[in-house]
Amino acid sequence: MIETCPSEQWRPALENAFDFAQKQVLGLVERDPDFYPMYTRNGKWRHQGEAWTHWCDGFLPGMMWVFHRRTGDTQWRELAERYTTPLEPRKMDRNVHDLGFIFLSTYHRWYRLTGDRPLNDVVIQAGRTLALRFKEKGEYLCSFMGPDSLFIDIMANVGIIFYAALQTGDAKLLDVAMKHCLTTRRVLIRGDGSSSHEGMYDLESGEFLRQSTQQGFRGDSCWSRGLAWAIYGFTSSYNAVRDPRFLQTAEACADFYIRETPANGVPLFDYDLPADGPRHLDTSAAAIVAAGLLRLAKLSADPAKGTLYDQTARRILLTLSEKPFLARGKPGWEGILTEGVYHLHKGLGVNESVMWGEYFYVEALDRALRGA
Ligand code: GLY
Repeated sequence: MIETCPSEQWRPALENAFDFAQKQVLGLVERDPDFYPMYTRNGKWRHQGEAWTHWCDGFLPGMMWVFHRRTGDTQWRELAERYTTPLEPRKMDRNVHDLGFIFLSTYHRWYRLTGDRPLNDVVIQAGRTLALRFKEKGEYLCSFMGPDSLFIDIMANVGIIFYAALQTGDAKLLDVAMKHCLTTRRVLIRGDGSSSHEGMYDLESGEFLRQSTQQGFRGDSCWSRGLAWAIYGFTSSYNAVRDPRFLQTAEACADFYIRETPANGVPLFDYDLPADGPRHLDTSAAAIVAAGLLRLAKLSADPAKGTLYDQTARRILLTLSEKPFLARGKPGWEGILTEGVYHLHKGLGVNESVMWGEYFYVEALDRALRGA
């Protein structure tokens, strides 16, 4: 059960962490210009480790947009534009289910700053492209693994389809996004608020076959980052269309996280790891949850829940902003947060900094410090 963080003690720690995050990102762009890393190896961003799938390029410029908005520093704006512009062709990328990650963190932030319609058109096109992954039989957006695979991760991307639908009035897009969320809610979220990573379908009949996983411990386990995507994604979906089923699901997943995670707010990479095996943590899950809970706190209809989610998010952020999780004082470590996990079974990014952990940590720090 996570402890809450009721006092103002968090603010100086979070401000210092935000400064440290800028220093680490600046170090990366000076050392290795125009490189879009994914995870560190022994704390270094540049290495030959495989990517598995190509989904992270929006997170580095996404942090730059956040830094610019918070500090007003024009250097961050220039860097943000420089690292965002090369991503535009990805708006047509049909090989990944991650176009929300790539474009909501970049072109959408750029459009909100300037109001330039061509920037918005890029975001809308990315939403239309993602919607092409929809399987009529089964009513879900399929993962990059194949047409029979549904991932919980897609909940953190479907927001770009809601956005495109609401911007254009396209009822078909809205229908796709709604159906995907309702299917995910039905087949990947369990009665106790835990989540499964993957659902497998029979393509002939559209029948749901079973829960499965790629990155979690087992098909019937709860992979903590998947739960984090569920909290963040159902919260964003509720924010987009105010369907109370999405709020109920976001709260059920948040309540599971709060109940089952240690007092400091950082979970094991999977809630069902055996006691006698390796017990890796995942700080990236904690960072995503903090960002999601800060949003959920503002949307919850119950003021007591809103306070709980807000104070829990601050507890998590305070934990991440101190040793051993903040990399400050770790000589030569290039990332911001230590102890993330990308893909344990493939041995990729285990106990390392991971780009999505950095991005959602920076987003959450900014939200907490703005009170947004
Ligand atoms: N594939 C998205 C993730 O690793 O969370």
